Amino acid sequence: MELVTMSRTRVVLMTLTLVVVTVLNNTESAESARTFYVFGDSLVDSGNNNYLPTTARADSPPYGIDYPTGRPTGRFSNGYNLPDLISQHIGSEPTLPYLSPELTGQKLLVGANFASAGIGILNDTGIQFVGILRMFEQYALFEQYQQRLSALVGAAQAQRIVNGALFLMTLGGNDFVNNYFLTPVSARSRQFTVPQYCRYLISEYRKILMRLYELGARRVLVTGTGPLGCVPAQLATRSSNGECVPELQQAAQIFNPLLVQMTREINSQVGSDVFVAVNAFQMNMNFITDPQRFGFVTSKIACCGQGRFNGVGLCTALSNLCPNRDIYAFWDPYHPSQRALGFIVRDIFSGTSDIMTPMNLSTIMAIDSNIY
Ligand SMILES: *[C@@H]1O[C@H](CO)[C@@H](O)[C@H](O)[C@H]1NC(C)=O
Ligand SMILES: *[C@@H]1O[C@H](CO)[C@@H](O)[C@H](O)[C@H]1NC(C)=O
Repeated sequence: MELVTMSRTRVVLMTLTLVVVTVLNNTESAESARTFYVFGDSLVDSGNNNYLPTTARADSPPYGIDYPTGRPTGRFSNGYNLPDLISQHIGSEPTLPYLSPELTGQKLLVGANFASAGIGILNDTGIQFVGILRMFEQYALFEQYQQRLSALVGAAQAQRIVNGALFLMTLGGNDFVNNYFLTPVSARSRQFTVPQYCRYLISEYRKILMRLYELGARRVLVTGTGPLGCVPAQLATRSSNGECVPELQQAAQIFNPLLVQMTREINSQVGSDVFVAVNAFQMNMNFITDPQRFGFVTSKIACCGQGRFNGVGLCTALSNLCPNRDIYAFWDPYHPSQRALGFIVRDIFSGTSDIMTPMNLSTIMAIDSNIY
């Protein structure tokens, strides 16, 4: 009698295990890898600006020269950009620009990219580029996306997907180079000293991040600004000897620690490590200060451009173009090359807690695989 009961229990248990394993496998294959959402500026725009009436665009050659198609895509890179390389690492397809007509049906499950080159934390940043998607517009599109996702999989599942997704937010550089420091005197520089301006930016950025939390984000990589004074565009116009421009470097070094502190504060407010600060400044400085160690011949001269440091004006079909993009840290006067971005992504995945605060992306992926 007892034996029979036991074996029955065992059969039931085994069947249950099979059912559970099958269900888990099914959800995994249906959603494949983790859903990924991207917000921000040109460092992460994968082509939204192609669909907008703006001068901030990367849709003509030689942009994309090292992309698999060899053609421009709207990414401000010679090939892949930061979100692409993160997608590859987490085993996902690249996220499509939200404005792309290809982003329909099952593709919505991969995620979406809402970023728009030229924007900043503030609405008055990048006004010279005209028709770009400011943060409140990127969020309006994200709300629209969530309605479309609900229509596809149901409201409860849509909510689960958004809560379980990885987010990337890259903002802030343009608030300095395309606002405060754009002209020798600007409206913002008349209004604020640099430290005051940084505190104002952080107070506005806090609202932007809290809004993203309200919209369902539970894991967000927040990149600080890079070394703004070291990009070829600034060396070309503001540096006499090729040294990084102190005013811009100092601004970044005031802004970035305030950002880390602010993400800590909102994490303790929401009671969870939702926001992860990425020290992009340090990650870039590693290859800028010692380019040879990373296999670059230079970190001062852009691959594509003209004039001093190849840093004057835009990268166009008429620019000087280096034959081997892999040995240049900067692709154009503002943006790192695909290979340089690879070093940044490596640090995002495995950096120690001084550059990934409070933890790196490998740790996040390991923790979250137990929850979602
Ligand atoms: C930007 O503009 C939107 C829409 O007008 C507004 O809701 C938002 O508060 C503005 N942001 C800032 C920082 O002024
Ligand atoms: C970050 O990533 C690596 C694995 O790639 C891990 O060994 C390391 O301990 C992680 N965390 C920290 C805080 O360094």
